[in-house]
Amino acid sequence: MKVLFVTSEIAPWVKTGGLADVSAALPAALRAAGCDVRVLVPAYPALRTAFADAPMLAAIAAPRPGMHGAALRLAHSPSGVPLYLLESALCFERAGNPYLGPDGRDWGDNALRFGLLGHVAALLADSASPLDWRPDILHCNDWQSALAPALLHYHGSSTRAATVMTVHNLAFQGLFDGALLAPLGLPASAWRFDGVEFHGRLSFLKAGLQHADALTTVSPTYAAEICTPAHGMGLDGLLRHRAADLHGIVNGIDTQEWNPATDPHLAAPYDAGSIERKALNRSALRAALGLPDCPATPLIGMVSRLTGQKGADLVAALLADLDDAQFVLLGSGDAALEELFGTLAARHPQRIAVRIGFDEALAHRIEAGADLFMMPSRFEPCGLNQLYSLRYGTPPLVHATGGLADTVIDAADAERGNGFVFRTPGLAGLAACTRRALALWREQQTLWRRLQERGMRAEHGWTASAQAYRALYRTLRQPA
Ligand code: ADP
Ligand code: GLC
Repeated sequence: MKVLFVTSEIAPWVKTGGLADVSAALPAALRAAGCDVRVLVPAYPALRTAFADAPMLAAIAAPRPGMHGAALRLAHSPSGVPLYLLESALCFERAGNPYLGPDGRDWGDNALRFGLLGHVAALLADSASPLDWRPDILHCNDWQSALAPALLHYHGSSTRAATVMTVHNLAFQGLFDGALLAPLGLPASAWRFDGVEFHGRLSFLKAGLQHADALTTVSPTYAAEICTPAHGMGLDGLLRHRAADLHGIVNGIDTQEWNPATDPHLAAPYDAGSIERKALNRSALRAALGLPDCPATPLIGMVSRLTGQKGADLVAALLADLDDAQFVLLGSGDAALEELFGTLAARHPQRIAVRIGFDEALAHRIEAGADLFMMPSRFEPCGLNQLYSLRYGTPPLVHATGGLADTVIDAADAERGNGFVFRTPGLAGLAACTRRALALWREQQTLWRRLQERGMRAEHGWTASAQAYRALYRTLRQPA
């Protein structure tokens, strides 16, 4: 089975969120499961630098007047997955965030930049491909590559690859001016409510959802949620219509990268048999962040984009009154939330430490050093941090939504509990759940340890999910 996996970010080189982690780990797991999988990703500066000697495979003419030409170079990830680097100085050689300019706003030409990614993906998936290798399956991820299934639908040959569209977050839809329809190579007939039009705008994500052969999202609960008006972000009607083709496959994690027994970032590596060593990581974390080291006070951790999705505002409200615990946050995002957390830390330096920015090493240290991990997301397609925290013996406290509902089981379940779950969204539910978790930490150390061990010993890797993707691919195309 040959699979071309198309993504707009990939760890460790270019990462704004979980998609980068998935794009690194899932193709590797698929390869281990016997798929010939290759990744198509824009050659941003970090990838150009990492693979400066990558040989050129093909030159690609501008797909449309007004779009840019490109080149494909071949590199390999550390796990041996071939990477097709899509090189276009005009589109992708920009420092910083792949989607936003230095002013924090979307690049004005994102439609053409990621339109190019979609066009090249479609090209490689059909008979006119300049490469010898032709995929059976074209697997697109989020709006940035979602034009490809539509282009293949309108222009593809009968031998084109079958297409899979994975939604990692329905909140990001790639909405652009309808005048871009023709410049992007879509026919006038695509401008329909059951085409690529979305409330008068051109939607990349809708193009993919409408025209891909199969749809997936990153947890079963989120798959059900996005078919409802409450979580469908205006696309629930379409998703209900396509419900028979929509599958929820929960994400795994890279268990080598996230392994507390071998993690080079930790002061004291540990495993399920030596959880007491977490205390050394907690002391080191407190020292690094300037918090007093008081063993009788629990330390709550959070690593997150600071947005409404993640419930960061609820956490800020909770902290004002939470004087019997310490809290450490690593995150970045909405300027107002960054400022709010900065103010809280300045006001309560003994119990709140905040680091604004993106820091992979500190993220690992927080997972290892915290006693409890906070993730009260309003919605969460899957979420990876709760899985990292389970693996690090740091019970997650979550809102019962999306992938959080599918991976975290409340401590009230004596046989299976691995964390804390609240069902009523909002501050009251979060506060009650936090009080319950802190009381258990203080008063029932044996139970707490059982929660930790259960999380640490569970299987969180990609094997099962890679098998599920493979089974789905097989329903779409039997390899020759
Ligand atoms: P999302 O993709 O919605 O942001 P996920 O939980 O799926 O949420 O994935 C987020 C990923 O980004 C995780 O690997 C997490 O550790 C990482 N991350 C988020 N914010 C930061 C940060 N400020 N510094 C380092 N890593 C971060
Ligand atoms: C998105 C979602 C997150 C998910 C990640 C990877 O960014 O917000 O829940 O884990 O994609 O699939």
